Amino acid sequence: MTMDPTIYAQRRARLLEQMQRGIAVIPTAEEVARNGDTHYAYRHDSSFYYLTGFAEPEAVLVLIAGAAPQAILFCREKNLEREIWDGYRVGPEAAQQQFGFDAAYPIAQLDEKLTGLMANQPVLFCPLGADAAWDQRLLKLRAAVQARVRSGIRAPDEIRDVRALLHEMRLLKDAVELDIMRRAAAISAQAHRRAMQFTRPGQFEYQVEAELLHEFCRHGARHAAYPSIVAGGANACVLHYVDNHARLNDGDLLLIDAGCEVEGYAADITRTLPVNGKFSAAQKEVYEIVLAAQAAAIAAARPGNTWDAPHDAALRVLAQGFIDLKLCQGSVDGVLESESYKKFYMHRTGHWLGMDVHDAGDYKVGDQWRKLQSGMVFTVEPGCYIRPADDVPQALWNIGIRIEDDVVITAQGNEVLTSAAPKAVAEIEELMRT
Ligand code: GLY
Ligand code: MN
Ligand code: MN
Repeated sequence: MTMDPTIYAQRRARLLEQMQRGIAVIPTAEEVARNGDTHYAYRHDSSFYYLTGFAEPEAVLVLIAGAAPQAILFCREKNLEREIWDGYRVGPEAAQQQFGFDAAYPIAQLDEKLTGLMANQPVLFCPLGADAAWDQRLLKLRAAVQARVRSGIRAPDEIRDVRALLHEMRLLKDAVELDIMRRAAAISAQAHRRAMQFTRPGQFEYQVEAELLHEFCRHGARHAAYPSIVAGGANACVLHYVDNHARLNDGDLLLIDAGCEVEGYAADITRTLPVNGKFSAAQKEVYEIVLAAQAAAIAAARPGNTWDAPHDAALRVLAQGFIDLKLCQGSVDGVLESESYKKFYMHRTGHWLGMDVHDAGDYKVGDQWRKLQSGMVFTVEPGCYIRPADDVPQALWNIGIRIEDDVVITAQGNEVLTSAAPKAVAEIEELMRT
């Protein structure tokens, strides 16, 4: 836990208030085996961590709403043998004290205690549908409570997805969260600068990736927020390319989509640069279109506008650009109407950003795109991906460009968290010369 524990207690209190009544059971993420005796790097569940600050695996938060609300943690017991092999465990006793829970018990007691805690609760809140094994386990426990009906005990007769409440909370970032996100953004921007300075023809994509990871780690961000995309030439037209194994060619572009995680919060930045340090005329022409689309999208990211306003603004600029490049034919409205732009721009212009790189929160309220509000954080990431085709000018083949920044809506407009990563053509070329 890096933040003041009262912040997590306040979040739990807010959730308990919104639940009004009933019991919530919120597990953290499972450890995942990689192969014999090794695991993938452990990452807590974001919502669990948002409410606890507790980063160990095998932990469950139980909240009981009502007149006397309670927050109870179940976690691993202290175990000298396991701690000698695998490392420190907080243990229930210390966790209760340090993290401010009303009670804490060994995780091994979860099922037994839950059958008692669930009794006579009208509603069971859980991340319904997130994990089939957990759903089954909770239903089984609920059935065990139900079996005691003849002793006058009732089981919850309503099951609700706690994420509906939690995700709305996570969507609006407070000042503490924004400070952490500024740090994640600054470190990630610095890593992109380092990658630009390092890149030269003949290097491998994974060597550029190593520079990014080095810069993350050097500043205390121990993990990337998602697998880095380091995609040279035609690889940039593969949206989720993560092989990062190819050699970089003179004359190609390099698309880098990479961000680090700081205290559980993600940054998400994409920059596209010329491998040899100088954009060709054709590359520059396409690049300037994507950059202009991004500027239009960022200008539309302000309170009161709806979620789709930045996407629509980017699309209009891209559509005109695709017509100018002879990739699309007709008018801007015609290109938008027919969606012929989708051959070159097939994703949306952004997503919520926070603890998850594709963060929690609905994009629509009812059937309407939601209004942007101060404290919402999202990416703005238009792109253009041109695969070889008979009806595409050959000079443009294999140009893949995306420019992605992280933006927070403020009372007046927005703040771009990632502006320290250069994106003007002259800035990138200048940095690559030094
Ligand atoms: N890096 C993932 C994304 O841009 O959505
Ligand atoms: Mn993104
Ligand atoms: Mn990205």
